[in-house]
Amino acid sequence: MEILDYDVVILGSGIAGFSAAVHASHASEGKARVAVISKLHAMRSHSVAAEGGLSGVLHPKKGRDTLDSHAYDTVKGSDFLADQDAVEELVKHAPEEIKFFEHLGVPWHREDNGDVSARAFGGMSTPRTVFAEDKTGFFMMRALYDEITSLKNVDIFHEHFATKLMLHKNRFLGIYTIDLGDGSARVFSGKSCIIATGGFSRIFSFTTTSHSCTGDGIALAYEAGLPLKDMEFTQFHPTAMVPSGILITEAARGEGGYLKDKRGDRFMSNYAKSVMELAPRDIVSRAIVTEIARGNGILHKESGLEYVNLDLRHLGEQTLDERLPMIKEIAMKMLNINPSEEQIPVRPAAHFTMGGIHTDIDGQVQRADGKGGVDGLWAAGEAGCVSVHGANRLGSNSLSQCAVWGRKTGYAAAKHARRTKAGKEEYGRMFEKQVERERGRLAALMGREDGVDPYALRDGMYEVTGRYLYVYRNMRGMRAAKKALSRLKAMLPRMVVRDKSQIYNTNLRDTLEINNLIRLADIVAACAMRRKESRGAHAVREHPKRDDANWLKHTLIYNSIFGQRVTYSPVKITKWTPVERHY
Ligand code: FUM
Repeated sequence: MEILDYDVVILGSGIAGFSAAVHASHASEGKARVAVISKLHAMRSHSVAAEGGLSGVLHPKKGRDTLDSHAYDTVKGSDFLADQDAVEELVKHAPEEIKFFEHLGVPWHREDNGDVSARAFGGMSTPRTVFAEDKTGFFMMRALYDEITSLKNVDIFHEHFATKLMLHKNRFLGIYTIDLGDGSARVFSGKSCIIATGGFSRIFSFTTTSHSCTGDGIALAYEAGLPLKDMEFTQFHPTAMVPSGILITEAARGEGGYLKDKRGDRFMSNYAKSVMELAPRDIVSRAIVTEIARGNGILHKESGLEYVNLDLRHLGEQTLDERLPMIKEIAMKMLNINPSEEQIPVRPAAHFTMGGIHTDIDGQVQRADGKGGVDGLWAAGEAGCVSVHGANRLGSNSLSQCAVWGRKTGYAAAKHARRTKAGKEEYGRMFEKQVERERGRLAALMGREDGVDPYALRDGMYEVTGRYLYVYRNMRGMRAAKKALSRLKAMLPRMVVRDKSQIYNTNLRDTLEINNLIRLADIVAACAMRRKESRGAHAVREHPKRDDANWLKHTLIYNSIFGQRVTYSPVKITKWTPVERHY
């Protein structure tokens, strides 16, 4: 087994993780030794699939846009659960990130006069989403990857699966990984660590996200006793293509696309008259599900899924080619549909998890006892919950969040590493003990000859999440989900890995991912069944209204010696008193 020492260890290689690596390197003037660990080839991280764009107030004077307007849209979109100080931080720094990525080489779309273009997005009161075609994530990732590969102090470890986050006395010690290439163990010790492993929408089978979105870092943090925040809030993107679930970007509606029911009616007029298809995602998703339930959907015979249509025909070939080329390509390749001539079948799919590892405004991971941060540990991007999205994220705010907190945590981690003398030596015995225990656990998993099929457990989870935790929820269903998921969780220690080979063992990788997913799904159900109100993406039939008197608070859940503990913490309000949302 190899043990490697770094100053800063970054787990995850999407836009947040890569940004953190670049800024940790810059902040230390190239001196800090930085490791980026990815379970994939790093450039295959889910960030490359981000389509529509990144939000930020770039031309405040010309467009009469303001930081306060961006902040208020975000707070209102969040159904007032976002921490307003964090939102103010997001909107303040987002414009700098647009310029930073411009300097790295991202080809932002431009107007004829040379200005960077901005397009409309749901819940944004004015166009403020900058974009590079409809492949924004890909261009941002490529720019970051080019930068990172030019930095001599940053090493990328591709295809390393993290199985344990090692802490001691509220301090980060290291990360245990399996090199998927040859099955060997590689342990990273470090002074600082940033978890940036993304979200866990793969607890649902119908999702816009990659197979890799299994919330590994969040699950590791929970297992290490750290609190997770607002886990009940899953975002369902209104326009996932049927039957595959591939994302059809919200930018398609931002560019003027319509949603139509089976009679060809633009039904959004019944739900958000003033903004129609550009209402926030929670509202549009509920509208689609409601119309389908009323019999206004269309049946996709092969899959049994019902859908509504996304009509882009009136946008014309030129807009599609210039601003939505990938959507056109996807529709043609996957469905043999040219969107300038035919409508695209869509329905809501799990897209983003608002909840994650509980951090403070700087991205530092917080302790379960409420006594401050974990020394040397941060979380950024979708893995962390700094709470800028609250109960419902606005589209295009996630790329800004990844960039802003990637930078912040990268700087903080590099600074922390510089002033921290001892690495693993000071805590050597504890480090070795934890490494040995993890090695034993994995050996037992690989040594088991008989047991439960992990794929059957995963399918059981899909059945439960799809039925009980989708766009609309009810109390009985959420309790049933919790019961069923707890039963599945209890079977996890008996999972068997049939493939015993060492070389790129996908059976082992899947088993580790399923272990994380089922634990997270169980946590989602535990938090959801307690929240007896409807707020943002958490819509409960028996409690259709938001209830600020009792529920204007964050849910925290952690793993104590007594099992799952759920507590609550206040929402930070700076300027905007919660009001009822109208669009
Ligand atoms: O629809 C989209 O392009 C998704 C963007 C986002 O989730 O921010």
